Amino acid sequence: MAISRNNQKLQALVEKLKTGLTYDDVLLTPGYSEIPSRKSVSLETHFGIRSYDLPIISSPMSTVTEGDMCKIMDSFGGMGIVHRYNSIQEQVEICKDIPDSCGAAIGICGDYLDRAKKLCQNADVKIICIDVAHAHHSKTKKAIESLKKELPEDVLLIVGNVATKKGFEDLVNWGADGVKVGIGPSGVCETRSETGHGYPQLSTIFECNSASNRNEAILIADGGIKTTGDMVKALAAGADFVMLGSLLAASQEAPGEVFYDEELGEVKKYSGMASEEAQNDFRGHTNSLEGVSSQIPYKGSLLPILDRYVHSLRTGLSYSGAKNLEELRVKAKFVQQTSAGQFESSTHIKKIGRIR
Ligand code: XMP
Repeated sequence: MAISRNNQKLQALVEKLKTGLTYDDVLLTPGYSEIPSRKSVSLETHFGIRSYDLPIISSPMSTVTEGDMCKIMDSFGGMGIVHRYNSIQEQVEICKDIPDSCGAAIGICGDYLDRAKKLCQNADVKIICIDVAHAHHSKTKKAIESLKKELPEDVLLIVGNVATKKGFEDLVNWGADGVKVGIGPSGVCETRSETGHGYPQLSTIFECNSASNRNEAILIADGGIKTTGDMVKALAAGADFVMLGSLLAASQEAPGEVFYDEELGEVKKYSGMASEEAQNDFRGHTNSLEGVSSQIPYKGSLLPILDRYVHSLRTGLSYSGAKNLEELRVKAKFVQQTSAGQFESSTHIKKIGRIR
């Protein structure tokens, strides 16, 4: 039998392939503004009955969020989620001390139910975050059902990660109060190269923001954010919060020691939760490897850094003529840029002149 190489089904599929966009592919068009001062711009966002002054959440990663990170995030009006690479007792001890605007992460198998119950009972945690690599899964549905049955009614559930509108809709229908979106955009991720799966991050936000049940849960844009400009783009595309790992890692408030590297000077470790290093530290062995570990130059305290983020985010909103996040979503106009545009958008003086 002759082998047909002209697969019409595949051809039709290729024609239907979408172009996915990410942060560097677009810019926001500056618009008419009546904002009298950047200070009059509000960054307020909401989750449940609580409002937050800063739409930033620190990642549930062992090199990003424990007690000190939660405290500084809370002091700026943001949120921190304590990672789950510790024993239940260790996590309870860390969480006992965190502000009630912050949460804890759990998984969807093993001790997850016991962990969540103890965090709520013994540390009075009000936000639980199911943090798994591929949350659009029947196991997540079962986990949400069990948690909703077992935990106090006022506990809010953040669940992730997913990358599609259908994924967002299913998680919300299963009971999620917040959904983390983003598969593979982070600098420490290997998911896309290892598995061939993922979705460009800005398109993920656009698509999930168009979910039929979008108003029933908050949308958290997780991973791939390199600048405050990326944060403004994520918020303009529909995110209620952005989640940051690398931008907050290697700070005084992140867990881990400062050590000396000959090339980089003072550094701290930043490890993907699915990296060999993080899994070995936690479990003593590795499951699937979808992340890497790196060193980042030590930044000192996050105080001046978060001050600058607040300033730049407010300025970002004012360029769209928006005095709050709701107005930003209505007024924002995205323009796609070419690779020449991307070059022009980066600081490129080094390439055309001599730096003295
Ligand atoms: P950024 O870009 O802010 O991303 O550093 C932080 C987010 O990355 C995710 N994360 C991982 N993704 N393999 C992955 O594919 C990993 O090992 C890994 N560790 C963290 C997570 O969503 C985090 O918030």
